[in-house]
Amino acid sequence: MKLHARFRPLARLLHWSMAVLIIAMLFIGAGMIGGAPERYSALLRVHKSIGITILLLAAIRLVYRLLHPAPALPADLPRLQRAAAFASQVLLYALMFALPMVGWAMLSAEGYPILIYGGLQLPPLMHADAMWYAHLRSLHSLLGYLLFFTVLLHLGAALFHGLIRRDGVLSSMASLRRP
Ligand code: HEM
Ligand code: HEM
Repeated sequence: MKLHARFRPLARLLHWSMAVLIIAMLFIGAGMIGGAPERYSALLRVHKSIGITILLLAAIRLVYRLLHPAPALPADLPRLQRAAAFASQVLLYALMFALPMVGWAMLSAEGYPILIYGGLQLPPLMHADAMWYAHLRSLHSLLGYLLFFTVLLHLGAALFHGLIRRDGVLSSMASLRRP
């Protein structure tokens, strides 16, 4: 196995805590739409608060990532896979911002106060508008599916590196042992 530099501990902490929160959000979102109606408002309360937490963590993570670039990929990784890794990371970052922002804008367009963390009121991102609400509602769903499929591809790629290429890329994010 070729040795590969590791992501810093804070990058790994952000990666794994956000992975848990984001995967939970996909299930909570699906539960809100397909689950029992009596749980809807409780799930929505949790969904909004975790969603805004993800937005804040994504901002911290992006700044940290720009200050501390990712470890270089293995030198023998084909160019197409390198490009795919870059494109999927850009897409994941974009979705970590877009989903909460669209959720926030969509509830603003609905016109009711947006309460999170048990009482904190978010300022509306736009004025109330039923047409915009409908468009943003569809966009939030579409982006949710896109995030789900991108995460599946990302997971597949991580396992490809860890189990088939065994090139140290998976352990750069997943291992607690020193290289
Ligand atoms: C990373 C963050 C987020 C993810 C992954 C996410 C994901 C989802 C998903 C998968 C659904 C179900 C969509 C469907 O099946 O049609 C959903 C619904 C919803 N989301 Fe989010 N969401 C996020 C952030 C937010 C935020 C920050 C807000 C609001 C402040 C929000 C508000 C809503 C609302 C109101 C619904 C349900 C709409 C309805 O009942 O028609 N989401 N979300
Ligand atoms: C919602 C789930 C996930 C999201 C949004 C996500 C997002 C990301 C992002 C943006 C990066 C780039 C590094 C950074 O800036 O932090 C990354 C790297 C990485 N992720 Fe994930 N990830 C998720 C789940 C997973 C899972 C489940 C695995 C493995 C089983 C995994 C394995 C990795 C690995 C190995 C890297 C390093 C890749 C490299 O060096 O280019 N991720 N992830």
